Amino acid sequence: MRRSLVVGNWKMNGTRASAELLAKGIIAGLGSDVADIAVCVPYVYIPYIADLVKDSPLALGSQNIADQASGAYTGEISASMLKELNCQYALVGHSERRSYYGDTNESVAARFSQAQAQGIIPILCVGETLEQREQDQTFAVIDEQLDAVINLVGIPAFYNAVIAYEPVWAIGTGKTATDEQAQEVHCYIRKYIAAKDQVIADKIQILYGGSAKPDNAKGLFAMPDIDGGLIGGASLDAESFLKIYHSV
Ligand code: 13P
Repeated sequence: MRRSLVVGNWKMNGTRASAELLAKGIIAGLGSDVADIAVCVPYVYIPYIADLVKDSPLALGSQNIADQASGAYTGEISASMLKELNCQYALVGHSERRSYYGDTNESVAARFSQAQAQGIIPILCVGETLEQREQDQTFAVIDEQLDAVINLVGIPAFYNAVIAYEPVWAIGTGKTATDEQAQEVHCYIRKYIAAKDQVIADKIQILYGGSAKPDNAKGLFAMPDIDGGLIGGASLDAESFLKIYHSV
């Protein structure tokens, strides 16, 4: 039985004060230990949130990670820096990074590898645009996104990784994939991994992201291959994020 995982992606929102308030609100409302839970916070707030989550079940993650270990890469944040601040997770290949900041399948693979080199669990984001879905390219796009990483690090590396399926057309649009649409792709991803390694396929957490909210989370999380969620907008409010967490 896979343990569920719910991750909040705060994106570029909030202030130091609101971020601290949000983290405290989440910790206060966790209640029983129903699943793994983490928040991926803006880089500059990581040290403050790291302090707050120290003795709690709330894990900490970054929203990106450098594709190089160290050196002359102005503006980048390395895996070893994030490790020093107790980051347990790092998002890699979020669609906003891919579409606005030029992250490629190859650079995403390098970020995945850098995270793992420091013992940080990469959360590899994959997903198709609306146009790709309409042209029946969903599975081909996901194959390419997965293959780039598998080719660089090898399938055994997925033993310590998470995959997030985030259809680009559902992110921040209020248009959630239906339970069945999401399950279809999650099942596809698990089978794709299973063809290479059944043990890893059975173990790996595959999260759904894209307009997941308190009122649709239960249905999504009830699907056999959906092991939790990567939550954007609804993770900025402690109460709605906790409702999602408690729907697993
Ligand atoms: P929304 O939940 O705001 O659609 O964002 C999803 C997402 O991009 C999480 O990484």
